[in-house]
Amino acid sequence: MRDPPASDAMPERSVRAPTRGTVSVRPGAASDLPAVTEIYNHYVVHSPCTFDLTPLQPAERVAWWSEFRPTGRHRAFVAVQDDRVVGYALSHAFRPRPAYDTTIETSVYCAPDACGQGIGAALYARLFDALRDEDVELALAGFTLPNPGSEALHRRFGFRPVGVFHRCGRKFGRYWDVQWNERPMRAPAGTGAEKRG
Ligand SMILES: CC(C)(COP(=O)(O)OP(=O)(O)OC[C@H]1O[C@@H](n2cnc3c(N)ncnc32)[C@H](O)[C@@H]1OP(=O)(O)O)[C@@H](O)C(=O)NCCC(=O)NCCS
Repeated sequence: MRDPPASDAMPERSVRAPTRGTVSVRPGAASDLPAVTEIYNHYVVHSPCTFDLTPLQPAERVAWWSEFRPTGRHRAFVAVQDDRVVGYALSHAFRPRPAYDTTIETSVYCAPDACGQGIGAALYARLFDALRDEDVELALAGFTLPNPGSEALHRRFGFRPVGVFHRCGRKFGRYWDVQWNERPMRAPAGTGAEKRG
């Protein structure tokens, strides 16, 4: 990830978390990769919400992180509280074939001690604000069942379930179901709110 030039940086969005300082949301920077990886690795080790099985090293994720840009479809935002990255949200390619380019997949992770404080919602609000004028038709998100927090968050942001893949991942010695969800990114035709003709 490249640090966005100051002119591209959008104003920070803030949310007041009950237990600690104010949380601000800003575009991710190259220097955030270790913190983002640390949050992710917690869930790699302790949760079926990701199907990675072994922790990742920041060094092996540099190319992946560099694909998120200050503009365009593929964005990364981080939530910062007391100078610590406590969560992040991403939009990235769904599948590599070019006809899929206008579809993105989104994901969001909060540090385990930062869940349930509105931080995931602040991250998604910022991410979807940033994507408002981009050429994106559809957002997809999948989560392992059960995950009531992720389910509530995605529902709140306009995702609707489209189906469940049953027993599609094996972790911790058992199989898990994954629910996929979609969110149209443009106003429906005929509402007068279309962004493009
Ligand atoms: C899922 C996650 C990103 C949600 O972020 P969060 O900051 O905890 O959620 P928020 O506090 O912003 O709450 C968003 C909504 O989810 C609801 N929610 C949050 N945690 C919940 C829980 N454990 N059970 C039920 N609802 C929950 C909130 O009440 C709120 O609902 P509302 O909009 O109807 O008021 C976060 O909990 C997390 O990182 N979990 C572990 C990793 C993970 O599962 N990531 C998603 C992978 S797809």
